[in-house]
Formats: sequence, C-alpha cells, structure tokens
Amino acid sequence: MKVVETVGDLRKTLAEYPRLIGLVPTMGYLHQGHLSLVRRCRADCATVAVSIFVNPTQFGPDEDYQRYPRDVPGDLSLCENAGVDVVFAPTVEQMYPPGDSTLIEVQGLQDRWEGEVRPGHFRGVATVVAKLLRMVCSERAYFGEKDFQQLQVVRRMVRDLVLDVEIVGCPTVRDEDGLALSSRNAYLSADERQRALALSRALQTAQQMVAGGEQHGVKLTAMMRSIVAQTGALQLDYAAVVDPGTLEPVEVLSQEARALIAARVGTTRLIDNAALVPPAE
Ligand code: PAF
Repeated sequence: MKVVETVGDLRKTLAEYPRLIGLVPTMGYLHQGHLSLVRRCRADCATVAVSIFVNPTQFGPDEDYQRYPRDVPGDLSLCENAGVDVVFAPTVEQMYPPGDSTLIEVQGLQDRWEGEVRPGHFRGVATVVAKLLRMVCSERAYFGEKDFQQLQVVRRMVRDLVLDVEIVGCPTVRDEDGLALSSRNAYLSADERQRALALSRALQTAQQMVAGGEQHGVKLTAMMRSIVAQTGALQLDYAAVVDPGTLEPVEVLSQEARALIAARVGTTRLIDNAALVPPAE
C-alpha cells in the first residue's frame, strides 16, 4: 500500500496502477462503515484509493473541527488489512493552497435539513469532494447512505458539472443494537449512546408503519418526534419524510420515500435515515 500526501505524488503513483480506479473519500477515524465502502470498492474496481482528510471548510465556526477524532496510524493499518492500494492523506495546504477562492454551491439541495442547521456545510463538502474527484480522476467514488443528504448533494454536483465519475451509494452499517456507525459515536458516554438509540428506533417504527399501510408524512414525523421526546435528554433538530431525489417533504407516500432524523445527544450531533417503502398494491 502506498501513502501519498501531495497531488503530484498521487498522480504519479496512480499512473502505475491499473484502471478501473475507485475512490473512497473519508475524514479518517475509520470504522466498519468506511470498511464496507472499501470492500465494495475492492470488489468492483482494479485499484482502490482512500482519501483521509478532515476537511476544515465543512465545519462551522462552533463545530468540532479541532476535536474531530483522528488516528492516522490506526487508519493506515485498517486500510492495509482491507487491501487498499493507495491512501491519499493531504495537508490542508495541498487541498486549499494560498489564494484558493473557488467554492461549489449545490443550491436548493444544500439548504434544507442539515444545511439549515449547519449553514455552509454542504458548500464545504461539495468543494472538497469536487477537488478530490479531480485529483484522483477515479471512474467510481463510494459514499455511505448514512449521510443521505450528502450523497444526494454529491450526485447532483457530479451531474451538473458533468464530472466523469459514477457515484455509488452504499447501505448504512449499524451496530447490533441499531445505532448507525459514525466517527462521532466516539464522543458518546454509555448513557448517551443508550439514548441515541431513539433515532434508529424512530426510523424502524416509521418503516413498520409504512409497511403496515401508513401513508401520511405528518403522522410518520409526529411519531418520530414523540419517540425522541420520550427518551428525554435528546434535542431533536428535525424529523422528516422526504422525496429521496429532491429532499422535499412528502405529504402522501405513493412511492419510496426517505425518513431523515437528526438530534443532539449532549454535545454530540447524530444523524440517521432510512428508506420507507410502501407495500405493493
Ligand atoms: O462523509 C465524509 O466523511 C466527508 O463529508 C467527505 C465526503 C469525506 C468530505 O469531506
């Protein structure tokens, strides 16, 4: 496995590897969710590249950029064991050289839900992902459905900018008790972790209600809210039932929709989502 830090070395190194190249962009502190993306990439592509970069531009001024968990030696050994060919671990200066002033906005999709709570977040994500895609020039790039809005923002950006890459969305990986894996779970105390299960419980209940014939977005979101409220000590940011492509709220489900949920547990923000599939008529 080769580890490179500069764009020049990345290009030279990747030129020695066979195409088709797949990229798994990450912010490090890798867990089984990331490794599931790497496994999928390994199965699909001749060459697997992983980027590890905690991107400052997607964090707000009061967010956790400084304390975001980092463990590069641990990440490299997980990548090595997972059969990664090339790790790109650039510095902030490589990604944002002095004078860098271009930003990418995916208007509309970037503004709702996470975008409302974290203004500027998706501008940072879209900008860094566009840079990574141009630097690696992979044929495919792999993203988790756990960050469902991010996945849709990236898909839209790739379509609108006619970037020659296929975006592959991969299912969320969960602990046995249902908690979606996230690097930020490392912040949770045992009690907070227990309370955080309300998110996956609310989503699962929504799935069961829809499978049982419930079609009304408001009833589903009211139920999700009440499950979170019952748990106590959780501050809900939003619970929504949306169209998976536009992320606009759905009033009556006639086809697959997506339930989105986000809450704060102590000082930790957690997000989760699930597909809502109405029964066939
Ligand atoms: O999902 C993440 O880890 C990040 O948002 C990403 C896509 C690597 C961009 O920094």
